[in-house]
Parts: sequence; structure tokens; C-alpha cells
Amino acid sequence: MITWNTLSGEAPLVIAHRGASGVLPEHTIEAYDRAIEMGADYIEPDLVITKDGVLVARHDRYLSGSTNVSDHPEFADRKTVKVGHDGADWFVEDFTLAEIKTLRARQPRAGRSVEFDNQYIIPTFDEVLALIAERSKQTGRRIGVYPETKHPAALAALGLQHDEPLLASLEAHGFNNAEDPVFIQSFEVENLERLNDLTDIRLVFLTETKPDFTKIATVIDGVGPYKKLLISNGQDTGFIREAHASGLTVHSWTFRDDALDPAFEDIDAEMKAYYALGIDGVFSDFPDTALRVRDIVKDTP
Ligand code: G3P
Ligand code: CA
Repeated sequence: MITWNTLSGEAPLVIAHRGASGVLPEHTIEAYDRAIEMGADYIEPDLVITKDGVLVARHDRYLSGSTNVSDHPEFADRKTVKVGHDGADWFVEDFTLAEIKTLRARQPRAGRSVEFDNQYIIPTFDEVLALIAERSKQTGRRIGVYPETKHPAALAALGLQHDEPLLASLEAHGFNNAEDPVFIQSFEVENLERLNDLTDIRLVFLTETKPDFTKIATVIDGVGPYKKLLISNGQDTGFIREAHASGLTVHSWTFRDDALDPAFEDIDAEMKAYYALGIDGVFSDFPDTALRVRDIVKDTP
């Protein structure tokens, strides 16, 4: 058994990125449930908001990539052009929840199985939390949730804000404070600053560049960097050490069996390198792989 180099000294968390999204269409109850079966510690829903103010699990505001909306002639006139998006598309904030429920999910990443396309509904955040509660009860292990507010400023400008419904749903399912297995993540620091005034739930700042750790440590509990900020061309950048020195936990993305860093010969080698450095959590599309490699590292003296 090894000693983990994580901030807490505990084993790193395996976060099911968009569910078991490597094998089933992302952000569906089926993909989250598969990840729970695999043994993931946390389930990651990305959250956007419907026209009638309901949080639903999608990575993007636009719907063409991950749903069959283009096959619905009744929605043809909703296709539109919006600032910040290339070309015309359908946008979640122009659909009521009832309308969203008529769509079915699709695998958005090329090269992955499309066998389960056009079958699964788009879940609300409450439905995701209900699944987590049910499975936690059945299995006797408390499964965590790791919601991301997607495009919070742009949606708030349309009168749709994440904060209140997000915190209300979490509270209703017993996720209230820093001791509960929940992290809220965002790429937008203004959203995290607002949430910091509203809740004790741990907050994680997502970033593609190295932040000023001492400055953001006053607002957040952890940082969620793109993985190559931690290891670049196979070399440790010192990011984890510096973040830990500021008391920040480090949860990085995205580990994918089918899209690994070419500096490594296979996904096992890639994940072992991050675990050895003391990463505190990994977002993986293949949580079974992340768990299997974590077990190998744990059992290697
Ligand atoms: O939230 C961690 C990671 O998911 C950030 O990237 O684009 O996959 O949401 P994205
Ligand atoms: Ca995410």
C-alpha cells in the first residue's frame, strides 16, 4: 500500500466525467448509472437551463451535437444564430422542459459507439440527484455529485441564473456544506465568488491557464486544470505542488482511454504519472479505467 501524495493524504477521487461517457451517450441517467456501477466516487453533471428555468444536464447550450433535435420538424423554426456560436443551432434556453423531454441523447464524440443513440432522455438535475440518492441507499456508499455551472453569465443575461435552483436542489438532497460529498465547479470566477457568499459547499475553479493560487484561494477550495498544465511533454510542471502549498485541491481533466496524451504509451502509464504526482481527483470518461489504475497504484509498494 502506498502513501498518497494528495493534499488530504487520501486516495484521489475518480469523477465520472459526464457519466460513463466513453461507453454511453453523455449526461444521461444511463451513463451516470453505469458510472455508479463501475464504482465512481463522484458523478459529474454539466448544467444548462431551460426556458422555464429548469436545470438540465448538457455540456452545451446548443443541442445539435448531443441530441436528435435536428430530426424534430416541429422545432425547425427554433434553429437560430447566436453570438458566441459558429453557425445556426438550437439552444436549450429556447426550449421548455416539456419540449426538451421529447428529445433523445446522442453520442457527440467521433469514434465512439452510436449503438445507444436516440434512446435516452435528457435528465434534469433533480433526476440526477434522485438517481444518486437511490443508488447511495442501495449500495450503502455515499456517492458524490460534482455539478458544473455552464455559461452562467450568458444565461444570467437571459434571466436564467444557476445559483438559486442549483443550491435548492442540492439542499433538498442533503448536500449542504463542506463535509458533504459535493463540489461545485465553474470556469467563471464571478460565479464562484457569488456562490462563495451563498454556500459552504466546496468550490472549484476550472482553468486552461495557470492561475494566481494565493489570490483565488480566498474564494475557492480547489482548482480544476486542463491536465497538460500538470504534466507537459511528460514532465511535471510543479502545478500540483504549488496548488497544494496554497491549500488547494487539484482535480484535473479529461482522462480518456481513446484520447491520451501522446507523451505516454498507454492510458495506464498516463494515469499512473498523475497519481504519482499527487493529483487529488481525475475527471474520466472511463471511470472503470481510472479506478483500475488507482487500485494498481494503491497496491504497488
Ligand atoms: O468540468 C471538468 C471538465 O469537464 C471541463 O471541461 O468542457 O468537459 O466541461 P468540459
Ligand atoms: Ca464539465
